[in-house]
Amino acid sequence: MSLDITRPNNNNNKTKKKTGFIVKMQLNNNNNRGGGNKRNIFVFFFFFRNYYTWILWFLLSFYLFTSYFSGEDQSSSPSTIRLLSNHKTSSSLPSRALIESSAITTTSIDMFSGMKIYVYDLPASYNDDWVKSSERCSTHLFAAEVAIHRALLSSVVRTLDPEEADYFFVPVYVSCNFSTSNGFPSLSHARSLISSAVDLISVRYPFWNRTQGSDHVFVASHDFGACFHAMEDMAIEEGIPEFMKKSIILQTFGVNYKHPCQEVEHVVIPPYIPPESVERALERAPANGRRDIWAFFRGKMEVNPKNISGRFYSKGVRTAILKKYGGRRRFHLNRHRFVGYRSEIVRSVFCLCPLGWAPWSPRLVESAVLGCVPVVIADGIKLPFSDTVQWPEISLTVAEKDVKNLRKILEHVAVTNLSAIQRNLHEPEIKRALQYNVPMKEGDATWRVLEALRRKLDDRSYRRSRVLSQ
Ligand SMILES: *[C@@H]1O[C@H](CO)[C@@H](O)[C@H](O)[C@H]1NC(C)=O
Ligand SMILES: *[C@@H]1O[C@H](CO)[C@@H](O)[C@H](O)[C@H]1NC(C)=O
Ligand SMILES: *[C@@H]1O[C@H](CO)[C@@H](O)[C@H](O)[C@H]1NC(C)=O
Ligand SMILES: *[C@@H]1O[C@H](CO)[C@@H](O)[C@H](O)[C@H]1NC(C)=O
Repeated sequence: MSLDITRPNNNNNKTKKKTGFIVKMQLNNNNNRGGGNKRNIFVFFFFFRNYYTWILWFLLSFYLFTSYFSGEDQSSSPSTIRLLSNHKTSSSLPSRALIESSAITTTSIDMFSGMKIYVYDLPASYNDDWVKSSERCSTHLFAAEVAIHRALLSSVVRTLDPEEADYFFVPVYVSCNFSTSNGFPSLSHARSLISSAVDLISVRYPFWNRTQGSDHVFVASHDFGACFHAMEDMAIEEGIPEFMKKSIILQTFGVNYKHPCQEVEHVVIPPYIPPESVERALERAPANGRRDIWAFFRGKMEVNPKNISGRFYSKGVRTAILKKYGGRRRFHLNRHRFVGYRSEIVRSVFCLCPLGWAPWSPRLVESAVLGCVPVVIADGIKLPFSDTVQWPEISLTVAEKDVKNLRKILEHVAVTNLSAIQRNLHEPEIKRALQYNVPMKEGDATWRVLEALRRKLDDRSYRRSRVLSQ
C-alpha cells in the first residue's frame, strides 16, 4: 500500500524526534518487568563505572546516535522492531545487550497475549480508491476507519497467514462519499458496500462462514455506529445490518444504556483528529501558557427554537446555552465555522462539548488533547476507552437539564478542583490514548483497540477455542 507511506513521510521530523524518547521508555518498562535484565544491566554498569567511565559515555552516545538513525527510515514496520533488526548486525556486544533489552517484540506479544489479526486485502474500490479521490478521506473526523486499517497493516499483531489469525479485519471505508452539495459524507451506500465486501470474503475464504463473522472486526465511525444514519430515529429504524450483528464493531458512538445501534459487541473509540493538526495548534499556543478564554464553544447552534431542527438538534441544549450565555463576557460562543478553531481551544480553560445529533463529537478529543477541560453535556454518553481512560479525572460532566446553571458549576470547579483536573489532563498518556498514529505507537488509540480486542480473545477467537478443546 503505497498510501501508507505518505503520511509518516510528511511527518518525518516529528516522528524522528520522538523515537529516542519511546525507546527510552521501553527500556524502563522492561527493566521493571524483567528482573534478570535489570540485574545484568546493573552489574554491567557497576563494573564499568569503576574502571572505564568513558565507555559508558561512549555507549550512551552510540546508542543515541544509532537510535537517531533508525528513526530516519520511517518504513511501514513499527519503529521498535526495526530498531532490533538494525542492531542484530552490530558487532558491539554490550550495546547490543542494551538495545535488545529495549526491544518491544517480546513485550508486545506478551501484552496482546500473542493475538494475531489478519487484514483482508480487499479490492481498492472498498478502501484506497476513496482516499485517492479525496485526501479529506484520511483526515476528517470519521477517518478512524482509515487510520486503524493503516496502523494494523504495519503492526506487530498482523499476520499474513489467516489460518493463525484470532481476528479478521475488514477494511471498508464508508465515510468518504462526500456530498458534492454540502460536503458531508453520504452514508446511503454504506450498507451495500459493506454487504458486498462480506459476500466477497465469505465466498473467497472459509473464515466468515465458520463463525458467521463473530471473529471479524469492522470500523463504524459515524454518528450512530453501525446503524449508518446521521439521524437517530432513522438510524434506529434501519438498525444494524443483520450480517454485522455477530461481529465486533469499533465505533465512536457509545451510550451507557440500551440502544439499538450498539446491540453488538463493540469498542468505543475516539474520533479521528490528525496528529499534525494537534501539533500545529499546540505550537501556536500562547507562549506563557495562559488561557485567556474561560468557556469556549464553536459550532452549530440553532437560534430559533421553533425551527424544527432547533427543537430536535442537540435536544435543544445548544440553543439553551446560546440563549443564556451568548454575549456573556466569559463565554466565547460562536456559531460560525472557522478553520483555526483549534487555536481557540488551546487558549481556553473550559471547552463545552454538548451533544449534536449524536451524543459524541470530535470536541471531546480535541479539547482533551489540547489541554482544555472538556465539559461533557450529553446525558448517558459512553466515552472512548472508558475502561482504561479515566474520564472523570480529566473532564467535567454537566447534565443536560443543568445547562442553565453552567456558569455557576464552572465557577465552582474553577475555585475547587480545576487545577487537579488540568494536571491529570496534561498527563502525556491521555494525549497518546486519544490519537491514532501510523505506525502505531505504544499506548495510542490503535494500541488501546488491540488491548480491548485482546480482552475478548477467549470469547471470540475461533482458533483459540479449537486449541483449547483439543
Ligand atoms: C455516494 O453517495 C451518493 C448519494 O447518496 C450515492 O448516490 C452514490 O451511489 C454513492 N456512491 C457510491 C460509489 O456508493
Ligand atoms: C459461505 O456461505 C455462503 C452462503 O451460504 C456461500 O455462498 C459461500 O459459498 C460459502 N463460502 C464458502 C467458502 O464455502
Ligand atoms: C431553520 O434552520 C435551518 C438551518 O439552520 C435554516 O436553514 C432555516 O432557514 C431555518 N428555518 C426557519 C423557519 O427559521
Ligand atoms: C471536580 O468537582 C466537580 C464538581 O464538584 C466534581 O463533579 C468532579 O468529580 C471533580 N473532579 C475531580 C477530578 O476531582
